[in-house]
Amino acid sequence: MKSRPTLTLIAAISKDGFISQGQGVPWNLPRDKAHFRRVTAGQWLLLGRRTYEEMLGWFRDHHPLVLTRDPNFVPFVGKAVSSVGEALQVAGEQGARGLFICGGSGAYAAAMPLADRLLLTHVDLVLGGGVPFPDFQAGDWHQAGWEAFPADVENPHAMVIAAYERLRDRVPA
Ligand SMILES: NC(=O)c1ccc[n+]([C@@H]2O[C@H](COP(=O)([O-])OP(=O)(O)OC[C@H]3O[C@@H](n4cnc5c(N)ncnc54)[C@H](OP(=O)(O)O)[C@@H]3O)[C@@H](O)[C@H]2O)c1
Repeated sequence: MKSRPTLTLIAAISKDGFISQGQGVPWNLPRDKAHFRRVTAGQWLLLGRRTYEEMLGWFRDHHPLVLTRDPNFVPFVGKAVSSVGEALQVAGEQGARGLFICGGSGAYAAAMPLADRLLLTHVDLVLGGGVPFPDFQAGDWHQAGWEAFPADVENPHAMVIAAYERLRDRVPA
């Protein structure tokens, strides 16, 4: 049987668990942007409708899918889907080996139960509130990679880029 695409959540998160303070990302970190560009190049992506609209104009060789509850929403680029399961099905039918969940909060929360991998940039900054990254059980995940970067002239906050893999068997779509 053909397996479904591997589902990876990719996010940058503050120390207190937030991804945004309402509009855009709340930091300017060229190192994290380069990491995001490198990992997602040429890939199938799933974005919540708000994040998709913020990122319009950014897509190049990507295959964006847009998560929305609006059956009439027609994206300029890519295709609208109503669930993570539908996104996996659409990407899988096109031969995708992976699907990257690029936020925001709603898309991460919907995808977390099915996620196989987390690629998290832990930003050394406390925001005190905002749009949350969903809770996840540390015990469900194995830390597969970890790289720390100090703040520098271009990147005002230190960060750790970490990869986690789900410990139990992959949840079927
Ligand atoms: N730090 C990071 O790594 C990171 C990454 C991505 C985004 N962000 C930031 O996060 C913020 C946006 O996050 P957000 O949570 O407000 O918005 P979002 O998840 O990008 O988009 C919300 C919209 O997605 C659709 N949606 C969400 N959950 C759904 C579900 N379960 N089923 C069907 N449709 C669903 C709905 O669209 P409709 O209203 O069309 O029905 C909803 O209004 C922005 O500021 C963005 O810059 C940060």
